[in-house]
Amino acid sequence: MVPTLSAQRPTSPQDAGQTAFYAKSGTVPMPLIERAAGIHMWDSAGNRYIDVSSGPVVSNIGHGNAHVADAIAAQARTLDYAFPRLVRNRPNMDYTERLAALAGPGFERVCLTSGGSEAMENAIKFLRQYAVATGKPAKTQVITCQPSYHGATIATLAMNGDVMLAPFLDGLAQVTPKVPAPIGYRVPGNHDADSYARHCADCLEAKIDELGADNVLAFVIEPVGGLSTGAVVPPHSYFRRIREICNRFNVHLVFDEILCGMGRTGKFLAAHHWPDALPDIVTLAKGMASGYSPLGAVLAPASMVDELAGLSGFEFQYSYNANPISSAAGLAVLDEYERLDLVNRSVTCGERLRQGLKDLQTDLPIIGDIRGKGMLLAVELVADQASKAPLPNELQPTDRVRVHGMNNGLIIYSRPTSGGKYGHWFMVSPPLTITDDEISELLGRLGDTLRDLSAELL
Ligand SMILES: Cc1ncc(COP(=O)(O)O)c(C=O)c1O
Repeated sequence: MVPTLSAQRPTSPQDAGQTAFYAKSGTVPMPLIERAAGIHMWDSAGNRYIDVSSGPVVSNIGHGNAHVADAIAAQARTLDYAFPRLVRNRPNMDYTERLAALAGPGFERVCLTSGGSEAMENAIKFLRQYAVATGKPAKTQVITCQPSYHGATIATLAMNGDVMLAPFLDGLAQVTPKVPAPIGYRVPGNHDADSYARHCADCLEAKIDELGADNVLAFVIEPVGGLSTGAVVPPHSYFRRIREICNRFNVHLVFDEILCGMGRTGKFLAAHHWPDALPDIVTLAKGMASGYSPLGAVLAPASMVDELAGLSGFEFQYSYNANPISSAAGLAVLDEYERLDLVNRSVTCGERLRQGLKDLQTDLPIIGDIRGKGMLLAVELVADQASKAPLPNELQPTDRVRVHGMNNGLIIYSRPTSGGKYGHWFMVSPPLTITDDEISELLGRLGDTLRDLSAELL
């Protein structure tokens, strides 16, 4: 379908943008996508692809949605921009109110940003400012998991659990303290998945002890993993335990739901799966505007936000906070969530998709694990199903699956994380609007992709 597997180097002034920054010889070709509708994308040669992972798990309502496009155009004509430090705007007020209602008690206040990394930055800045304003200035440490992903600004890179980042960050930013992520697929010899998750929670307690609770500001975790862990879902007992530890040590618990929130896992917030262990702060982005506009958010309790407002107020902002066009896009996306019942569809379609992947696994020994929740699924590729032996890094499994995917009409989100230390996987997270027939087509093409990959790598 896509004839060339060679890398694309910038060859003309038209290629001087993103391609120039990211192209590397020997990597995966990037088709020039000219149009998209629903779960499909078409390149400049007319080839059709299925958007298997919704980009990087962004396009929750699918492409080419007329209601959202019209809402954006109408807002741009009515009020394009209003600086949030000087004036208020209606779309922002309406959107934040609706988002807070969906998030439920404990998340009454919403601070908008332009994306996920900014949302994480704002969450930490908010907690830090709250700590200083309420007489706890020593609280600076932010504990995160190894592996994990929280963003690409310098501060959020330092929060990421990615062993490959150390040389880049050395001297530039202080890597935050880490505890092991409760990955249940490959666990140390004396553990099963549950006992390993208990061990990981014990590590949080030990880390807080080691740093001194008075110095620890927050523990930040992806409640359902994204690409960094391949959609790991910790057991309920883990969430209860980390909530209890954070309460006991007066440490804020932050759920990074930038990828897993917005109905992806079958509840509006992933946190809603574990209502007895709700976090203090939730960050959202990606699915909020579903790719139609840059948008992210910090959800916080009214009690904290209002208390801080009475002390110093939150001091930090971006020019594009509370942007009317992004808010209008977010509102229109929520209309589509409601109209198409997308949170519930995430449960039913997710089950169908997971069953289809399991059927593929019986024929394809390269599939080691299928994990995730709702329509947030990942497939781990292995050299051997029984021993769970990972494929060697030199084979570049995450690149090769993308190449074979493209040859079979699939755009797949996958890249090496933590240098492949924890294994190799790719995301299966198509738009929540996918139909049964489209799921069948996706699975058929994925089966062909993995057969081609097996023929090359095994
Ligand atoms: C869990 C998680 N947190 C944060 C981010 C950063 O979001 P953004 O790319 O919008 O800055 C991502 C993006 O992939 C993510 O998956």
